[in-house]
Amino acid sequence: MLVLTLFSQASCLVNLMNEYISANQALIAVTDQGRSLDGSLTGSSLARQIAFGVLRHYFELSFKVDYLVSKPLSEKHTDIQLLIMSGIYSIDHLNRPVHASVNACVEATVELQKVWAKKLVNGVLRSYLRKKEEICNDMTSDAESVTNHPQWLISRIESAYPEQAKTIFEANNIQPPMTLRVNVNQQSRDDYIASLADAGIEASLGEHAPTAIYLSRPVAVDKLPNFDTGAVSVQDEASQLVAPLMDITPGMEVLDACAAPGGKSCHILETYTDITLVALDKDKRRLERVKENVARLQLDCQTIVDDLNTFEPPNQLFDRILLDGPCSASGIIRRHPDIKLLRRDTDIAKLAATQLKLLAKAWSLLKEGGELIYSTCSILPDENEMVIAAFCSENPDAKTIAIDTQWGLASPHGRYLLPATGSTDGFFYAKLKKQSA
Ligand SMILES: C[S@@+](CC[C@H](N)C(=O)[O-])C[C@H]1O[C@@H](n2cnc3c(N)ncnc32)[C@H](O)[C@@H]1O
Repeated sequence: MLVLTLFSQASCLVNLMNEYISANQALIAVTDQGRSLDGSLTGSSLARQIAFGVLRHYFELSFKVDYLVSKPLSEKHTDIQLLIMSGIYSIDHLNRPVHASVNACVEATVELQKVWAKKLVNGVLRSYLRKKEEICNDMTSDAESVTNHPQWLISRIESAYPEQAKTIFEANNIQPPMTLRVNVNQQSRDDYIASLADAGIEASLGEHAPTAIYLSRPVAVDKLPNFDTGAVSVQDEASQLVAPLMDITPGMEVLDACAAPGGKSCHILETYTDITLVALDKDKRRLERVKENVARLQLDCQTIVDDLNTFEPPNQLFDRILLDGPCSASGIIRRHPDIKLLRRDTDIAKLAATQLKLLAKAWSLLKEGGELIYSTCSILPDENEMVIAAFCSENPDAKTIAIDTQWGLASPHGRYLLPATGSTDGFFYAKLKKQSA
């Protein structure tokens, strides 16, 4: 009996240690190789929880490790630094026995072939348990640790949103809700909520988009009633506000100029009937996902792999264009906390130049009298407001149309939604009409 108990404890420890190793590998891919967390994670949901948690609390955890180690770890030992950070994250946030997390982190040093670090990891984590309060008090004067954002981003967010900055930082560090877009061609939102309730899934209605439903807890999509036949899609409520802004009427030709993976293309097709939609993206692999989504939702559109900068549609200009192009993704940090480490301040000006160039090209494909929606999942004015202002000052035929809605913050050229805990991602929307020159 004793042997069996010891065996089962040992195998639990190995399983838990493997979760820390998987999280560690994904974290190293982000910090040392500049890769995205999503693309690097291979482990189970616990490894995912640890890796996401460490990135959400990265700056605070770095501060704590620096406080606890007598000599900073060298760059070749980032794995050990991240392991200690994972241990501290587990102590602070995981609802699991602390000693098991500490033991798993200590044993993970062996798997990482750094046995010398066993004593260090053990010592630092146990010291953290004793000094936690003292460290937290000391941290309050360090802006990066308090907000868990890099200084350059703190400065940009505080200067754009002095009153909302604190709540933006908080929202960015909390796991976002799972939000669905109901395909109202198949059933009403209320009917779908009822189907969810029948399936034992608790949900509530979105406040701003008439198609949005928030789940109380995330579930696998195959557990969602009629997901396979296109009843719903997973899409944040902020994204669901784009298609209704497009004012498309039957017979119109529409271009989604940066379409993949197709969330907004599909929503446009669900919202407006008898239209022709071209979904363009330069990324072939991502465009495959547009095709899959369109097929699942039983919709239809033309997909084209091409760079918008060189795209020449045959004899065709468009009545409506959506430009939902590349951006810093500063509005969706809560979904992609790696953005806080992967982006640099200098990226913003480069992105703004790319956005302005794409906007100029998209504009050339718009019919006179046509309308273009420019949207990004960034909340930084340089990628939004300033791009539209620069574009309008160079193009007298471009006129911004006010977006008159109950939601968001109006700005001179568009509207922002800021990331909010339990609610929407951060987003920017602008609407431009092409007048006769
Ligand atoms: C924010 S994502 C678009 C999300 C999409 N609108 C949706 O709702 O699912 C930006 C997309 O722009 C594409 N992109 C970036 N530069 C492009 C270019 N020069 N031409 C075409 N597509 C581009 C990227 O491949 C990426 O898929």
